[in-house]
Amino acid sequence: MEIIFDALIESFLETKVGMSEHFLPAAVTADLKANLLNLYTENKLRSAGTGNGAVAVQDKSMRGDLIFWLDRNNNNAAENEFFDILDRFINHLNSTCYTGITGYEFHYTLYEPGTFYKKHVDRFRNNPARQFSMIFYLNENWQQEDGGQLCIYHDEEVQQIFPENGKSVFFKSDQLEHEVCPAKKPRMSITGWLKRN
Ligand code: OGA
Ligand code: NI
Repeated sequence: MEIIFDALIESFLETKVGMSEHFLPAAVTADLKANLLNLYTENKLRSAGTGNGAVAVQDKSMRGDLIFWLDRNNNNAAENEFFDILDRFINHLNSTCYTGITGYEFHYTLYEPGTFYKKHVDRFRNNPARQFSMIFYLNENWQQEDGGQLCIYHDEEVQQIFPENGKSVFFKSDQLEHEVCPAKKPRMSITGWLKRN
């Protein structure tokens, strides 16, 4: 596992956007996707907001995704396994990179066809806790013509990442502007942030 962690961290250090195809075991990815589809069918997903605390707003012209927070208190085997892997990753990251991460938050995310998230950075203006953004994609057989790419705005280029099943993305929350383009199919992921308080 630590070898996989190192590969993600090394690609992050080289290009500012770490990527891995093997961070989560395939069975965990499949179980999390099944959870997300159940939550969607049971109408438990909620519109995501922008901003934080008292300034939180729901603005569909900015962001159209539906979310549900993962939580150890949900007593779900796949979520707990996900958090176990995350705990190991954070221990490894903190001991090799002195990042001082003290917590995290992750939600299931579903973009219905045509919805999007306009260009933004992930760190709130009124709360600097978010250090790293991590996204785990849950979409089998995703084709480029399905759209839904994550566009990351670097100084000299725009990087396009398609939300393919099993792919993980890792970048600093305060630096890189990015956006989620509309897709032709439901676009599913686990999205979250490593925090330092
Ligand atoms: C976000 C975000 C990117 C993605 O939720 O803040 O930028 O690819 N997500 O889902
Ligand atoms: Ni974002």
